[in-house]
Amino acid sequence: MNKTLRKAVIAGNWKMNKNRKEAQALITELKPLVKDATCDVVICVPFTNLETALRETEGTNIKVGAENVHFAASGAYTGEISADMLTEMGVEYVIIGHSERRQYFGETDETVNLRTKAALEAGMTVILCVGEMLADRENGITEELVALQTKVALKDVTKEQLSRVIIAYEPVWAIGTGKTATADQAQEVCAVIRNVIANVYDKEAADAMTIQYGGSMNAGNAEELLSKPDVDGGLIGGAALKAQDFSVIVKAATNG
Ligand code: PGA
Repeated sequence: MNKTLRKAVIAGNWKMNKNRKEAQALITELKPLVKDATCDVVICVPFTNLETALRETEGTNIKVGAENVHFAASGAYTGEISADMLTEMGVEYVIIGHSERRQYFGETDETVNLRTKAALEAGMTVILCVGEMLADRENGITEELVALQTKVALKDVTKEQLSRVIIAYEPVWAIGTGKTATADQAQEVCAVIRNVIANVYDKEAADAMTIQYGGSMNAGNAEELLSKPDVDGGLIGGAALKAQDFSVIVKAATNG
C-alpha cells in the first residue's frame, strides 16, 4: 500500500468539552505548535464553539469541524443542526456515526448513511466512524461488523463524493479507556476497510481513502500506530484537549 496516494489527517474530537474561553485558549496554544504540520489538522468542536474556532483559526492551517449533523435540510427536528447551517458558517468537516452517538443517541447504520449523504451533498468532508464493541471482538466478528458498517454508511455515496470521506476506525473498547488497540490490530481492521472500498468502488478509490485510527491514541503511541501502512491518521479524543499532546500526534503524522 502506497501511503503517498492519500492525505494524512489528524483530527481532534473535543466531544462535550471546553467553554468558549477555554476553547479560545486551547486554539491559541495550538496554532504555533502545528503551523508547520505536513498533515491536515482538524479540530471538531461542540456547536457552541464553532464560531470561536472559525474565528481563531482564520488564516491558519487548522480546519474546523462539527461533531454531528442532521440529514434533513430543515424542519421539525428539535435540537438538531443541518449541513447547510454548518456550511453557511464556514464549517468544512463533520464527524458522523461516532460510537457515542450510536450508543447513547440511537444512531443506526441507516441514520449514519442519511447524515453522511446530506453532509456530502452540502459539500462537506465527512469523518465517518466505524468500530466494534468488545463483545464483537470477543465473538470474532470484528471484520464482518466493520465491513457492514462501512458498506451501509456509504450506500449511494458516489465515487466523486467518496473523495470527501475519511473513515475513522475506532474500536469502542479503546475509546476513552486508555486501552489502545495494538498497532497490528489497528492495521488489520484498517486494511479490511480499505478492501471494502476496493470492492464497493475500485482500487483507485481505496488507495486514495484516508483511514484514521481512533481510541486512546496519544503522544506516546501515535508514532507506532501511524507507522502502519493502512493507518493514515488519527481521530483523537482526550489527547486533543491538550495542545502539547495533540501537536506531538500531528508531528507523528506525515503527509504522503
Ligand atoms: P479517545 O477518544 O482518544 O479519548 O479514546 C477518541 C474518540 O472518541 O474519537
